[in-house]
Amino acid sequence: MTVTARPTGALPPHDVADLGAAELGVRRIEWAEREMPVLRLIRERFERERPLEGLRVGACLHVTTETANLMRTLAAGGAQVTLCASNPLSTKDDVAAALVAVYGIACYARRGEDRDTYYAHLGAVADTHPVLTMDDGCDLVSLIHTERPDQVREVFAGTEETTTGVIRLKAMAADGALGFPVIAVNEAQTKHLFDNRYGTGQSTVDGILRATNILLAGRNVVVAGYGWVGRGIASRMHGMGSHVAIVEVDPVRALEALMDGFRVMTVGEAAPWGELFVTATGNVNVFRREHFAAMRDGAIMANSGHFDAELDLPALREMAEGHVREVRDNVVEYDLGGKRLNLIAEGRLVNLGAAEGHPAAVMDMSFANQALSAEYIAQHHGELEHQVYVVPEAIDAEVARLKLAALGIAIDDMTVEQRIYVSSWQHGT
Ligand SMILES: NC(=O)c1ccc[n+]([C@@H]2O[C@H](COP(=O)([O-])OP(=O)(O)OC[C@H]3O[C@@H](n4cnc5c(N)ncnc54)[C@H](O)[C@@H]3O)[C@@H](O)[C@H]2O)c1
Repeated sequence: MTVTARPTGALPPHDVADLGAAELGVRRIEWAEREMPVLRLIRERFERERPLEGLRVGACLHVTTETANLMRTLAAGGAQVTLCASNPLSTKDDVAAALVAVYGIACYARRGEDRDTYYAHLGAVADTHPVLTMDDGCDLVSLIHTERPDQVREVFAGTEETTTGVIRLKAMAADGALGFPVIAVNEAQTKHLFDNRYGTGQSTVDGILRATNILLAGRNVVVAGYGWVGRGIASRMHGMGSHVAIVEVDPVRALEALMDGFRVMTVGEAAPWGELFVTATGNVNVFRREHFAAMRDGAIMANSGHFDAELDLPALREMAEGHVREVRDNVVEYDLGGKRLNLIAEGRLVNLGAAEGHPAAVMDMSFANQALSAEYIAQHHGELEHQVYVVPEAIDAEVARLKLAALGIAIDDMTVEQRIYVSSWQHGT
């Protein structure tokens, strides 16, 4: 399609890298939309019913094609949306341009922005005085609570997309520090069972391959963390023919990994064994100085957890004593003297830093949960306490029902006899 740029005066507030990239952005956003039938159905209903009329939404999410379709859906529901990036490396500049120039949505995001710009962009979103926050990692909620306490009472409620953000919010609620309710979209079954597992599993492999083009078959791969994300990565790596070992701190998860057919090791055992290391724990410094010292020449490291803190990068930099060079796009080599270690995408989310994030078909469900949770907040915020809520079961079930329907798959209803049977305690052998 040909993009007709709006007259400059009509552009929404923005800071993006290149408005000229908008046409490419539109094509890629429309391509993603084809894989997002549930969100499309919600958008069509929102256009008719306008459930978010006049609501100021402040969103801090990865600026990808799928997010653009969520922003369009919220705007179709009547919301005034302002978006910034939830990670300095995950922004797709063409998408940011299209949001501003074609869809009329305020957007502050440039790929590779420095820390000051990242926080300036968050501040620009907070300046719009959102009544609904939409976070991926809790940065917007944190900023409002710490730097703008007067604004806390203006917010009806928020939504949170990822595990790490939910952990931060639950800590705030436990301390009595959370000033408004938040719906943990990550806790919806139609989110973490699919997005964290299949979405991150596939897109992490995608990011590693785009960055390195290595052969995975026969390679020793260490996955740190056997949560939803770690399970997805491990099963996809196994499917590509890698030998996979898991490092864990939770005995139940470690046992599960073992019975799923993976090796289980300590970090110390894994360091000299592994050839490719992928972290997905949501924790800090999983691989540290002593582990880098024990790794093989040529080992590759990547992270798929939310923050770039899972590998002790300051220690790695120190050990390299300045012998650091980019060897391929998105791959930096640290020469430790006689041994070279490689880091993908600066240790930030590899699936977003070196690839395009989750496939749209998976984000369809995650973002359907976001859109329906926003509608729920518009209708029910007055009834909610300052706590972290799970997505209402009815929304979860509706997202799964719509997804199956969009895929043309029907399932059975229980017969009357079956309903009576499963709710009775009188039947025995
Ligand atoms: N890359 C993406 O697009 C993407 C998508 C979804 C979630 N995430 C992020 O991925 C991370 C993991 O999410 P999840 O849903 O799998 O969480 P989870 O809580 O289900 O799993 C984390 C696992 O890591 C283990 N762990 C914690 N500390 C560890 C340590 N020091 N060593 C080894 N294992 C350790 C925990 O026991 C747990 O089993 C979070 O930061 C989340 O925000 C990223």
